[in-house]
Order: sequence, then C-alpha cells, then structure tokens
Amino acid sequence: MLKAIILIGGPQKGTRFRPLSFEVPKPLFPVAGVPMLQHHIEACAQVPDMKEIILIGFYQPNDELNRFISSAQQELKIPIRYLQEFAALGTGGGIYHFRDQILSGGPAAFFLMNADVCSEFPLQEMLRFHRQHGENHCGVLLGTTANRTQSLNYGCIVENHETNEVLHFVEKPSTFVSDIINCGIYLFTPDIFGHIGTPSPDMEELTNGKQMHEVIRLEQDIFTTLAGQKKLLVYKTQHFWSQIKSAGSAIYASRLYLKQYHQTHPERLATNQDGTPKIIGDVYIHPTANIDPSAVLGPNVSVGKGVTIGGGVRVRESIILHGAMLQDHCCVLNSIVGWDSTVGKWARVEGTPTAITPVFSVTWSFRNHSYMLFWCSRNIF
Ligand code: GDD
Ligand code: GTP
Repeated sequence: MLKAIILIGGPQKGTRFRPLSFEVPKPLFPVAGVPMLQHHIEACAQVPDMKEIILIGFYQPNDELNRFISSAQQELKIPIRYLQEFAALGTGGGIYHFRDQILSGGPAAFFLMNADVCSEFPLQEMLRFHRQHGENHCGVLLGTTANRTQSLNYGCIVENHETNEVLHFVEKPSTFVSDIINCGIYLFTPDIFGHIGTPSPDMEELTNGKQMHEVIRLEQDIFTTLAGQKKLLVYKTQHFWSQIKSAGSAIYASRLYLKQYHQTHPERLATNQDGTPKIIGDVYIHPTANIDPSAVLGPNVSVGKGVTIGGGVRVRESIILHGAMLQDHCCVLNSIVGWDSTVGKWARVEGTPTAITPVFSVTWSFRNHSYMLFWCSRNIF
C-alpha cells in the first residue's frame, strides 16, 4: 500500500503571498476555485492502493483547516490527517519526526509533495518508473526543465542520462548547474529514513544551535549527500508544473488547472447559456455567485463563493475571492480581488503580467476597508 505526505509549512512561511496569506493559510488559498491543496489530494486519491494522506505543518490546527480536511475526506473517500510539528522542522525534519506514523501499516512507498506547487501530479507515472528501476534506489525526484536563469531559484539536478540516477543535487545554486530542476514532488521507499537518520557533516554544523536540533533540510542535507550514490533517480515530466509563491503565480497556476479541468472536471467550467454572463475561454464560477447576464468573464477567471458581479463588468485573468462585489461596469484584469472587497462602479483594476515571473495587482480588504493597487476609472460604456 501507499501513502502521501504533503508539506504545508506554517504561519511564518508564505511571506511573498502576503497579504493574501493573512486571511487564510496559503495552502488553502483557492486556485481554479478550490483550495490549492485539493489539487494534490485529488491526484493522490486517483492512485490505486493509496491508503492515507498526511498533511505536515506547523500551523495551529484551526477551523478552516479542519473543515477542509473533513470535507475532502468525505468527498474523496480517503483518510486525511494533519500532524503538527512543534516548530518548523524543515522539509526533512517533519517527515523524520513523524516517521512512525508514516510507516504504520507498512506502506511499500510514499509520495512527498510541497504544498506550494501546481502540477498535473504524474504520480502513477512516477510509480511505474520507480518499479521499472529495481530495488536499489530509495527515492524518485520529479524533475522538469527550466532556462539557465530560472534554474537558479530551484533545486538543480544533474543526472546520468542513461540510468536517470541523480549525480549531483544543488539547492538554489549561485551559478548554473543544470537545467533540470526539482519540482518538490517525490516518491520514497521507507529506506529514506535510514539516510535521514544518519547526519552528514554539514548537518552536524547546523544542529549545534539549540533551536535547530531537529531541523533537517531534505534538499541540502539529504539529497546533496545521497546524490552520486545510486540512491536517487529523477523522473522528468513533460506535463505542466509551476511554483505558487506570489499572488501573480496563483493566477498563472489557476490558468493551468482550469485548462486541465477539460479532462479532469469539465463540470467545474462555466459554459455559455441564455440568460447567463458571456464566458470566454476557461472560467470557474462558484454556484452561489450572483452574476449579471451582461457581464463578460474570461479567459482564466475564478469567481468565489457569494461574489456579486454587476452589469457590464469585464473580468479577465483574475481571481475574485469570496464575498467580493464588482459593481456595474468595472473592469478587472490580471488581478486578485480580496475577500469581501468592493470594486466601485466604472473602476478599473489592472495588473501587469510579464512572461516569466508575472506581476499582478492585488486588491484586498481588512474588515470594511478596501485597499486597491492600480485603481483608476474610465468611462467605457
Ligand atoms: N511541515 C513543514 N515544515 N513544511 C515546510 C517546512 C517546515 O519546516 N519548511 C518548508 N515547508 C514546506 C513549504 O510549505 C513548501 O510547501 C515546501 O515545504 C518547500 O518550501 P521552501 O522551504 O520554501 O522551499 P522552496 O519552495 O523555496 O524550494 C523547494 O521547492 C522547489 C520547487 O518548488 C525545494 O524543494 C527546491 O529544491 C524545489 O525546486
Ligand atoms: P487585446 O487582448 O490586447 O486585444 O485587448 P482587449 O480588447 O481584449 O482589451 P483589454 O485587455 O484592455 O481589456 C479586456 C476587455 O475588457 C475588453 O473586452 C475591453 O472592452 C474590456 N474593458 C477594458 N477596459 C474596461 C473598463 O474600464 N470597463 C469595462 N467594463 N470593460 C473594460
């Protein structure tokens, strides 16, 4: 049997996602209409023999997380648990700390995933690749290709092209190492814990500090040491993958998942019908949203719970979070409109997408006060 672990981080993480991560833990931020984490969980639930999904993080358990877990469990009919670290233990420290719970029931292997990635999650392909490559290795890393400049922001992998063994692993190198980057999605056998439990000399140095005694960085402490020992393989995906670090990248990820819905969840995509707003391209609309039929939405728009959209409104490449109100004839482009915010009549809110690292505008509100970037109004109609 198999298990899956998702690293969800904690409140000190997701700083680039502020202010959006003040209101809701970043892993629950809606991407293409559902919490970011739900995409991971849905992919895990598709894998035959998947027995349990464990979320590991250092958030205090809260209502929102509990509600999400219980509704995902019911909907997908798979047990999901949250295990809380007493402090941020790093990407390897949490799984090591909870290894008994992960190994209970005797899984043959388990997936480990960063929560802040968007992917087609080719988990079954990784499993097949793992089985085809015999018994010697204890981990398969999902890799994808990036250009030379982009690669410096990720873990970089040098592989043996014939055997797919990981020869070198360097986390966020300062100069170019390889164009194969680590996607933060792994398949491990239980043997990985034997390697995490044996500290490398670098780790000893890190562990000297009192606070840091259980912090283990999977990438720097474990992968770097295991590389070149035939213990790690890389499986390169041709499917979509992206990180979700900033508000702009959430809009990009939303576009990728909305496109994927044509295959996986066509029922989540809005269609053009008489008496409903005009839909262009891929759009998600929560059933409780109230949208004037003269509004035009899309491509790449997600409209959350209880949103009100008035007449003549135009929305494109944007995420409208729950409770927001877009008043008549306003125009929202390349933006995230925050929970319960109001965009006034004829206002124009526009972010600036760029090709590689998109920069978008974010509108949000604390209580009744609305804050907007890029506000100006323009009489269009
Ligand atoms: N539970 C827990 N505890 N989770 C953590 C902790 C921790 O102490 N620290 C980080 N995480 C979670 C984050 O929430 C995120 O989902 C994931 O682990 C990785 O977070 P970062 O430490 O911020 O790393 P990164 O995103 O900059 O880089 C990682 O991901 C890249 C792909 O997106 C590395 O694995 C890179 O090698 C990789 O290329
Ligand atoms: P291209 O994609 O470059 O061809 O531009 P576009 O004609 O689609 O225009 P743009 O991306 O600027 O705007 C997208 C849509 O929003 C268009 O249908 C515009 O008519 C509409 N639009 C632009 N500004 C406003 C505005 O201030 N208010 C409203 N209601 N709609 C607007």
